[in-house]
Parts: sequence; structure tokens; C-alpha cells
Amino acid sequence: MRIDVVTIFPEYLRPLELALVGRAAARDLVDIHTHDLRQWTHDIHRTVDDSPYGGGPGMVMRPEPWDGALREVCERDPSRRPRVVVPTPAGRPFTQSYAAELAAQDWLVFCCGRYEGIDGRVVDAWADDEISIGDYVLAGGEAATLVIVEAVTRLLPGVVGNAESLTDDSFAHGLLEGPVYTRPPVWEGRAVPEVLRSGDHAAIARWRRDEALLRTGRRRPELLERVDLSERDRSVLAR
Ligand code: ADE
Repeated sequence: MRIDVVTIFPEYLRPLELALVGRAAARDLVDIHTHDLRQWTHDIHRTVDDSPYGGGPGMVMRPEPWDGALREVCERDPSRRPRVVVPTPAGRPFTQSYAAELAAQDWLVFCCGRYEGIDGRVVDAWADDEISIGDYVLAGGEAATLVIVEAVTRLLPGVVGNAESLTDDSFAHGLLEGPVYTRPPVWEGRAVPEVLRSGDHAAIARWRRDEALLRTGRRRPELLERVDLSERDRSVLAR
């Protein structure tokens, strides 16, 4: 997968060189390029913003630098078209299934807005997706891009060594994942649940399902509405 990111703060994307995403890039499983939006300004001050039509606080990103950037970035390979993503708190909520949808693309372009956002005409002209990572307002699209790129990259083939760890993830079955434990068996007087040390794989799988159900019921009950619950699941939740 190729990923391009257009931003006025290219250094903000440096964490993509680290850890899981950095290792995936070093192994050519993902090819990430960041671009400074100001490259596509033509005035001495390299201006990217202006005051909003209709008044109000803050500034809006001007369409011309964005159009110049997107023409150059998106048209570098005329044989294919990228999916163009604009992170914004006004976007469609980002979820694990949305991450999987993006992971199936072969080219993503992220447009990081700052200030009050990017001129709506350039968003209409170029964006395929406007995505929100949650109901809170960040100072710009860069942190949201880091989140989305990490969630997508770990789903790419070969990135996560043990693919089973993906199917066990929170949300993989529509449920939150329950607690996990490692050695020692007793720590500060707290013992690891006996069943996990029993070697009984069926009992362990049942225990994990029960913990996931109970945690989801307590913390995110609305998620249960979309899960196919068995009779047994329902009896666990009724406990
Ligand atoms: N930009 C600012 N806030 C954001 C959010 N919650 N999600 C995505 N992009 C954003």
C-alpha cells in the first residue's frame, strides 16, 4: 500500500517511522510519503489560510494550495486513483471495519486540515472520505492521520507476525477484549484466573468469551446490539 500525507507540519508525521508502522515501511509492506502543503503556495509568506466567508472565528485553508498539492500527488501515477481521506471531527466515525475497508485499498492520500478546516469546495472536488476518530476536537488532522494509518497498517498482510492476534482484537467479534495476564501466577496477592492455567482450551475460550461479553455489557452496552448472541451469551449477560 502507498500512503501520501499532505500537511503544513510534516515533522508531526515522524512517529510513522517508529515501531509497528516504521517496521512495516522498512520491510516495504507500506510506502509512506509526507508532503509540505506550503510547497504549493506561490506568495512570499507561503500563505495557506484566509478568513471565513460569512464571518466567524478562526481561519479556513485556501483551496489553491490544496488543489495544487492534490493534482501533483494524486496524478503522479495516472494508471490508478488513490482514495483521498480528509480527517475531520465532522466526518464518518472511524471504526475497526472502516480500518479494514481502507486496508483493502492500494493507495491512500491524507489531507491534514488545520484551523477551522479546508475550503469546502476543494473537499467536494477531491475527498472520497471525511473521517472522524471520535467526538472531540483536535487542533488538526495530523494526530487523526497517525491513528488511522496505524490502525490500517497493522491490518496489511504480513505486518502483524501472528495473524491470530488480529482476530482476537477488541472489535474483531464486535466485542471489547477481556483482560490478559502473564507471569508471575500471583502478583501482589492477586492470582491469575485459575482456568487460564488449566490447559483446557475449550474452557479458556469460554472464559474469554464471557469476560468479553461482561466487559462490553458494562462499558459499551450499545455494541451488543450488533453482536449475534447465543442463548449461552445471553445467560452470561443476565448473571
Ligand atoms: N481533526 C480535528 N478533530 C478531529 C477528529 N476528532 N477526528 C478527525 N480529524 C479531526
